[in-house]
Amino acid sequence: MKAIIPAAGLGTRFLPATKCTPKELLPVLNKPVIQYVVEEALEPAGVDEVVLVNSHEKPQIEHYFSEDLELEGLLRKRGKDTFADLVKQAGSLPVSFVYQEQPLGLGHAIHCAADKMDGDPFFVLLGDYFVPDRQMCVRMADVSKAHGGCSVIAVAPVPEDQVSRYGIVGGTCIGSYDGCKLSDPEQEGAVWKLSGMVEKPEPKDAPSHLFIVGRYLLTPRLMELLATQEPGAGGEIQLTDSLVKLLSEEDIYALVVDPNEGCDTGTPAAWAATNARMALSDPEYAEAFKEALGTTQL
Ligand code: G1P
Repeated sequence: MKAIIPAAGLGTRFLPATKCTPKELLPVLNKPVIQYVVEEALEPAGVDEVVLVNSHEKPQIEHYFSEDLELEGLLRKRGKDTFADLVKQAGSLPVSFVYQEQPLGLGHAIHCAADKMDGDPFFVLLGDYFVPDRQMCVRMADVSKAHGGCSVIAVAPVPEDQVSRYGIVGGTCIGSYDGCKLSDPEQEGAVWKLSGMVEKPEPKDAPSHLFIVGRYLLTPRLMELLATQEPGAGGEIQLTDSLVKLLSEEDIYALVVDPNEGCDTGTPAAWAATNARMALSDPEYAEAFKEALGTTQL
């Protein structure tokens, strides 16, 4: 089973940094953002390859995931084996590439990887967000298994004034992930059977306050539907629109997650906060980070 990570965007919000460096390679601590997403994608049982949908403008990403025997050898010669191992690890991850020639939307980007899916179910992980403990997709796979292998998407509550930024789902809460009693149907762990979805609706048209977080487990039929998907919101070929079509043929479930389980790297402010959060939670960096900030109060 494979996972797709769309990574062909221009990274406009991070200009001028992204003039030469793809936003996917901006580091969180010492590791590029995209590597956290790749490692998360490989966590659920059965995922053995990640397909990155890249643009030809960003060859550095493919370079990063290739082996670099020269650098590795140089580091080993200098006794820097820990760093050599890190270089080797980045080059050994099971990542392959397809290229999106034109920026026609998320649905189009995902369809660029169609030939690599072998007609199997697949994950999609959007790359501006990563989950440090890598468990969100694992729980989604459990929900899918419990419901006959159907598609599952991760959703989370969003304030009313922000619904027009996201895909919003509608449906009914049918229980909880771990069998615990729910006090609120929008609470973390709730499982919904979906009845509708809208991409970037006006608040008055939103079927709920649950937004699509950017983690999807999808059946192969979705890929077929994407092949003929017409442009939708913003003139782009939208994944959400094909999900709506899928819903008329197959059940789709949603798992309510806590969005703070993951780290946002989509804007400079969110990226900076993610660096701080990861530094504070990493024993290797926490003390030095607080000291560098001039405080031990964090
Ligand atoms: C995409 C999806 C949207 C989802 C969002 C999450 O939108 O189309 O349904 O809610 O990611 O980040 P984009 O952010 O690409 O506009």
